[in-house]
Amino acid sequence: MSSKIPKIGSNGGYPDSRSASISPELLGLVKRTAIHLKGRLPSNVDLDDLIQSGLEGLIQAIDSFDESRNTSLEQYSKTRIRGAMLDDVRRMSQTTRTMADAITDKTRIVFVTNPNNPTGTWLTKTEISEFLQKVPANVIVLLDEAYFEYVDEADYPNGIDYLAQYPNLVITRTFSKAYGLASLRVGYGISQPDIADLMNRVRPPFNVNSMALAAAVATLSDDDYVAASKKLNDDGLKYLTTEFDRLGLPYIPSVGNFISFEIPAGKNISAADVNQKLLQAGVIVRPVANYEMPNHLRVSVGIEAENKAFIEALNKILG
Ligand SMILES: Cc1ncc(COP(=O)(O)O)c(C=O)c1O
Repeated sequence: MSSKIPKIGSNGGYPDSRSASISPELLGLVKRTAIHLKGRLPSNVDLDDLIQSGLEGLIQAIDSFDESRNTSLEQYSKTRIRGAMLDDVRRMSQTTRTMADAITDKTRIVFVTNPNNPTGTWLTKTEISEFLQKVPANVIVLLDEAYFEYVDEADYPNGIDYLAQYPNLVITRTFSKAYGLASLRVGYGISQPDIADLMNRVRPPFNVNSMALAAAVATLSDDDYVAASKKLNDDGLKYLTTEFDRLGLPYIPSVGNFISFEIPAGKNISAADVNQKLLQAGVIVRPVANYEMPNHLRVSVGIEAENKAFIEALNKILG
């Protein structure tokens, strides 16, 4: 990768606009993802039609976004600004039935996060299937699989398996989580070609820069990195949940790289106050009151020393 940096950092090299031709490795990504796709997609689907326009592109492609419901993630604040309504995140994570029932003839797109943030909960194969069956064919389902690489539950669905049957499905994945490239802003989507085509028409030119693409390619050929990243997360979750149990703090079992824990009434301190005190101790967690979870805080799984520093601070705060 280092040999590529001077070249891609020079003025001459605009990023590869279609991203897919930057290198054999990136085509490798398409192919590796396509291992799951092959045989499941209709024969007219071109694997080059992986899309890289991001959610904004999709939203632009779908005019008049208002009256959609059910976004669960702050990251989708733009959808809310456009008039989308935020549903109860816990209700959503418990059942997709309420989401399907909330679809009206004005709904254009439904966002489903699997696993979900900030609960870390996940939908099973049956839940996803039942949901997709209920969604009208003219409504796009965006299945956000940002935490896909962390999950190894047998009943966790791979969205790609549903693409052939549901042409209204769009799957998004990211290099921000298990691949550790959050600051480079790179991810990908997988859809039928007609949706990819719409997004390609509205996306900004060169929307993924060359450095990000080169880094994505480098991590893709580095299975050990992703495995180590997953193990770090598994170990961290185990440590945090053990400590929450010891401290008497209920938590929502998570398959993501974060976990939401509760400050119960018996602790005589609010989650907001615990958050403030953690900040004073140099630990940043995420209050989730805006997800109608006022008694919870969400902590990201860090490296061992960070997890320990967090628990130490929490210990002190809770006395
Ligand atoms: C469900 C979900 N999707 C997407 C993202 C962000 O992904 P990206 O960094 O690729 O924008 C997050 C980040 O917190 C997330 O929780």
